[in-house]
Amino acid sequence: MKKALLHHLYQQVRRCNCQCPGERQGAGTVVDTGNPETGIVLLGEAPGGEEIKLGEPFVGRAGVNLEGYLRLAGLQRGDVFIINSVKCRPVKNGGRANRRPVSCEIRSCARWLDEELAILSPRVIIALGDVALKRFGDPVRRIGECHGEPLLVDGVTVIPMYHPAAVIYRRQLAEVIAADFINLGQWLKRSFS
Ligand code: URA
Repeated sequence: MKKALLHHLYQQVRRCNCQCPGERQGAGTVVDTGNPETGIVLLGEAPGGEEIKLGEPFVGRAGVNLEGYLRLAGLQRGDVFIINSVKCRPVKNGGRANRRPVSCEIRSCARWLDEELAILSPRVIIALGDVALKRFGDPVRRIGECHGEPLLVDGVTVIPMYHPAAVIYRRQLAEVIAADFINLGQWLKRSFS
């Protein structure tokens, strides 16, 4: 049932006609993946070039990191459902580079994300990075101030975590992120088994 509703939603996203001003690619070409029944959602930022090419979230470099971190938490892709806050790829330099989504894009994709979350009705949302945290969790604090600390938002537990791409630019975060994912695995075991 959830799969059918999600399929219908992604077809609508493909026809998205938002008027956001920036350069973008591939609205709705990334079909979010994982198991929609587990109650655990991983919320990223926006797809990058590899994701648009292959049609799945987190299949590029950040995805390789993510899979490693999930293993530290005792999880695989099939134990969670992986989605993005923004449904197109924000680009710059004529599509040659990714850029951070701007507020207007985050706001305008909020309707898709809200529908997606209504279908998934997760118990836990793991918010990966500042965009996800701002959109769903804490509009004021940054990930660096609250990573790994569960928050309760409208009855859903939101766990802010560093984005798995953060370590590509800040090697010194590797141990912090690894420790957060180990703790996440223990927290999930305590809370849900
Ligand atoms: N980063 C994200 O936030 N999402 C993806 O799908 C890929 C990279």
